[in-house]
Amino acid sequence: MSPILDKNFKMEIVNTVARLREAVANAKNKGLSVGLVPTMGALHEGHISLVDRARKECDFVVVSVFVNPTQFNNPDDLKTYPRTLEADCEKLAAAGVDVAFAPSVEEMYPQPDTRVFDLGPVAEVMEGAMRPGHFNGVAQVVSKLFEMASPDKAYFGEKDFQQIAVIRRMVELEGFDLEIVACPIRRGDSGLALSSRNTRLSQQQLEAAPAIHRILAESTKLPREEYSPAAVKEYVVKAINDIAGMEIEYYEIVDGRTLQPITDWSETTQAVGCVTVWMGDVRLIDNIKY
Ligand code: PAF
Repeated sequence: MSPILDKNFKMEIVNTVARLREAVANAKNKGLSVGLVPTMGALHEGHISLVDRARKECDFVVVSVFVNPTQFNNPDDLKTYPRTLEADCEKLAAAGVDVAFAPSVEEMYPQPDTRVFDLGPVAEVMEGAMRPGHFNGVAQVVSKLFEMASPDKAYFGEKDFQQIAVIRRMVELEGFDLEIVACPIRRGDSGLALSSRNTRLSQQQLEAAPAIHRILAESTKLPREEYSPAAVKEYVVKAINDIAGMEIEYYEIVDGRTLQPITDWSETTQAVGCVTVWMGDVRLIDNIKY
C-alpha cells in the first residue's frame, strides 16, 4: 500500500463532499479556523508556499486537488493537464495539511453546473477575452469549494493575477464571508514563474523561458517620462517575440484593481503588466508590478 493511503498518516485524503463537510464541521466545533488552498494538483513549490502561509494563519488547512473541467475551453488542454495525485498527496502530507480533498468530477458536479456569474469588466479582458467561459468555470468551482469547505481564509497565487480579481468579484456577488489572501509569485532561481505547465516544456524551452521574467523586469526600469504604457508594451512584445520559439498572445498594462488597460501611468497607483506567451503548444502566463 502506498504510504499516503496508510491510516497512520496524519493527513486525511477525502474524496466525498459529505466527509469534507464533516471534517470541517469537527474542526469548527473545536473552535479551529479553517484555511483553504484550491489547486488543480501537479503541485510545486509555489503551491506549497500557499500551504505554508495557510498553516501559519489558520488552525486547520484543507487543500483541494481537482482538475476542474468547466474552466477549460480547450479540450486538449484539459486532456494534457498534468495529473500527479499520489505525489501531490505526499507533498501535502509533508507540508502538514489536515485534509487533501480530491473529489471525482461526478462528486463535484452531480448535475451540470449551469450557473452564469455576472463577473463584470474584470473578467472581460485578457484571459477572459482569450478563453471564453474560463472565468465562469473558475467561479463555479471556487464557489462550490467555498460552500463545501466554509473557509475563513482562502489562498491564491498572484501568478494568476486576474483570477484573484475575478474570485473577489464572485465572493462579493455570492456574499461569502471569508478573506481572500493573495500570495506572491514563486520563481525558480532562473526567474521563471513556477507553474504546473512548466513540466510540459522541453529542456531547450526551459532554458529559454526565464527570458519572459527578465524582459518584464527590465521593462519596469524604463523611465516613465520617456515610456508611456503603450511604449513599454511595444518594448516587451518585441523583445519576447524576438526570442526563437516564443510568441506573445497578449501583453497588457492594467490597473491592478480594475484590470482595465491604462494609457497613462497617472491613472493608477498600481500598474501591473500581464503577459501570455506560447512556447510550442504550452501557454505560459506571468505578470509584473510597475
Ligand atoms: O488556479 C487554479 O489552479 C485554478 O484555477 C483553481 C483556482 C484551483 C480553480 O480550479
